[in-house]
Amino acid sequence: MTHPHQRLLIIDFGSQVTQLIARRLRELKVYCEIHPFNRVNEAFLKDFAPKAVIFSGGPASVYAEGAPMPPAGVFDLGVPILGICYGQQVMMHCLGGHVEGGHGTAEFGRARVTPTDDRLPLLEGWFAEGPEQVWMSHGDHVSKIAPGFQVYGTSPNAPFAITADVSRNFYAVQFHPEVHHTPKGAKLYENFVRLAGFTGDWTMASYREDAIQKIRDQVGDRKVICALSGGVDSSVAAILIHEAIGEQLTCVFVDHGLMRLNEAEEVVTMFREAYNLPLIHADESDLFLGALDGVSDPEVKRKTIGRLFIEVFEKHAKAIGGADFLAQGTLYPDVIESVSFSGGPSVTIKSHHNVGGLPEKMGMKLVEPLRELFKDEVRALGRELGLPAKFIGRHPFPGPGLAIRCPGEITREKLEILRRADAVYIDQIRKHGLYDEIWQAFAAILPMRTVGVMGDGRTYDYAVGLRAVTSVDGMTADYYPFTHDFLGETATRIINEVKGVNRVFYDCTSKPPGTIELE
Ligand code: XMP
Repeated sequence: MTHPHQRLLIIDFGSQVTQLIARRLRELKVYCEIHPFNRVNEAFLKDFAPKAVIFSGGPASVYAEGAPMPPAGVFDLGVPILGICYGQQVMMHCLGGHVEGGHGTAEFGRARVTPTDDRLPLLEGWFAEGPEQVWMSHGDHVSKIAPGFQVYGTSPNAPFAITADVSRNFYAVQFHPEVHHTPKGAKLYENFVRLAGFTGDWTMASYREDAIQKIRDQVGDRKVICALSGGVDSSVAAILIHEAIGEQLTCVFVDHGLMRLNEAEEVVTMFREAYNLPLIHADESDLFLGALDGVSDPEVKRKTIGRLFIEVFEKHAKAIGGADFLAQGTLYPDVIESVSFSGGPSVTIKSHHNVGGLPEKMGMKLVEPLRELFKDEVRALGRELGLPAKFIGRHPFPGPGLAIRCPGEITREKLEILRRADAVYIDQIRKHGLYDEIWQAFAAILPMRTVGVMGDGRTYDYAVGLRAVTSVDGMTADYYPFTHDFLGETATRIINEVKGVNRVFYDCTSKPPGTIELE
């Protein structure tokens, strides 16, 4: 098969940080894909046609029963290979070296690597300031390198920290260059892709062109329907598909009455007017709010919204005469099949709302033009497609909307107070220039009233909770450390400007143990 870009294959041996390798490479405009070691065989390698291969780290020991091994034929591809941590150990093990485990070989945390010989293209500019800090995280270590390899750097606990067989273009390091604690790690990847002959041909402009062609090939003259939420992912997917197939695309914006202040109007206006997208504005707020009346259990709320969403979407899809394809803004992190060594089902913390289940139910195939992108790449594509910066940089907003920011029973009155308080809070954050530093910020309305005094009178009003977190992917998060002045000013503004609120709390919980949303 011919591929439009030079491709690098990352073989995943189960490290927690394999995705970071892909991030570093994408930053270098190198197209790469991550595949678990047990899904890669000779036929796959031939079809993938990598220009270079990276073996990730992993938690196993090469001597353990069923230890992950690289696919047959990988060392005969004739392309450069870089092994990282377990990737180094397994490379040595396969090529005739030796790995040892047990007492005294483990090393976790920062270490300094001293050069023994830096005349290696991989190390160009690396040891310019002397020994380099790296991040180690390994139980076993290499005790004898494979024939043909030479040592280029050592650390106190890893005598073979950097090794290479230059004649075969095989490189192997014991540390993790992909993490931030290896400050010059990106340089190592840069050197590796340069020596492998990558030219940096993975750009958003070329992605846009390829994606448009792929959508045309897949869809032909058939119809596509897209659930547009107003979030960055579904918006970028819709605009891209519209560019590819024009009027064959119909978008449905399901307005569940749980959007933020003026949000529904803004989304509809932008897509209809600026992008001329065929858009159905399905105002179903009465249906959703009616079904949620009296519901206070978080899971019941989520499941009710998820079920109604599918019903409503299906109704509107039928009304336009159906579609053959459903467009979704699925991203690469959702697609990567990671190697799990723990096994077993994990506990459901929250039932996430998405449109999964729809394609089978309606007999539709999926169009997922963002499947190969990370979140920041979707933003870059959005910029490429001309989406306004303010829109692209928006904080994430959950599918169930304000329902999960209104613990307890949802009423129209509470939603209105919440919308107004949230708008003041976000305005404050923008005015203080903090919006882009924060991953997600929002107000919640708490299920209680408290007593206050305003003017000369007693008040008995709602309390509002403010949340702001920093995060990389929403999986873990730290609460944002606003100054007391900011919090005081914001509380005063909310109480003065939003009728029905007489108290404001700030949530100082990180995730874990909290979650980002309240429900
Ligand atoms: P939690 O509350 O689980 O949230 O810490 C993590 C991130 O996910 C978002 N979130 C959702 N997004 N559908 C979504 O599309 C959902 O049902 C949903 N629930 C939470 C949340 O806003 C945060 O960014």
